[in-house]
Amino acid sequence: MGLLDGKVAYISGGASGLGAAMVARFAQEGAKVMFGDIDAQSGAAVAQATASRFVLHNVTDEQQWIDVIADLVAAHGRLDVLVNNAGILGTGALETIDLAAWNRLFAVNVTGVMLGCKHGGTAMQRNPGGASGSIINISSNAGILATAGDCGYSATKGAVRLMTKSIAVDFARRGLAIRCNSIHPGPTETPIFKPWQTDQAAADALHRSLMEMVPMGRLGRPEEVAAMAAFLASDEASFSTGSEFVVDGGGTSALAGM
Ligand SMILES: NC(=O)c1ccc[n+]([C@@H]2O[C@H](COP(=O)([O-])OP(=O)(O)OC[C@H]3O[C@@H](n4cnc5c(N)ncnc54)[C@H](O)[C@@H]3O)[C@@H](O)[C@H]2O)c1
Repeated sequence: MGLLDGKVAYISGGASGLGAAMVARFAQEGAKVMFGDIDAQSGAAVAQATASRFVLHNVTDEQQWIDVIADLVAAHGRLDVLVNNAGILGTGALETIDLAAWNRLFAVNVTGVMLGCKHGGTAMQRNPGGASGSIINISSNAGILATAGDCGYSATKGAVRLMTKSIAVDFARRGLAIRCNSIHPGPTETPIFKPWQTDQAAADALHRSLMEMVPMGRLGRPEEVAAMAAFLASDEASFSTGSEFVVDGGGTSALAGM
């Protein structure tokens, strides 16, 4: 018996990193998995490796959300689990922020999550047998503690944290059995850091600064975040909603250097 037997799941940004690990884990646990991404080549490869279904999907586009959810419900009759995972890195130091890049960051990391909750949450309210489901929003430990030098990323991830709580209590108070929680990974080995690893010296400096954030002394593995997502997607998490689940090797528990 898999933890997610019979469940229908959608994961945004599933072509790489944490999303790809969740696609694999959810499929292993018995879920029917569909995932979206803007990277068609990697999406096709992940779909093939995991026997799941890939769709080209930009989370900033509301019509695409409407079409993707309609397609999934037409194929499977329901939506049980939605992971709003697609996200991008921030815009850097305050004085250098480019407004177009700032707006794009918020469009992907915040508006994309809202649109997923809106259309995924609406589909879950229409599930046969009554409203049910689990929404999982991927925030960051940077949505709990600030990272200096990148106010944009922290702002978007803080927004996801509070958006999650607001949606969760709204659903709960309306008697809808749809849970909504956030996951807050610490530094985890994925391609997200590639733009900052411009040469070996930059990669080494980044690695050192990431390691300073983790008392456990190593980076996280995507599978460790996927394990938390699988738990929250499952009925084992039936009394958890509006909560933040940290997977960061102790990072948010420590004062720096102490
Ligand atoms: N890796 C970490 O250390 C870490 C830590 C905390 C939080 N996170 C969060 O985890 C999530 C996944 O990050 P990751 O590390 O796996 O990164 P990643 O770059 O490996 O994967 C992100 C995926 O999202 C896709 N994507 C980007 N913009 C998109 C859009 N507009 N529409 C659809 N898909 C889009 C990318 O093509 C990519 O496949 C992000 O929300 C990120 O902020 C990551």
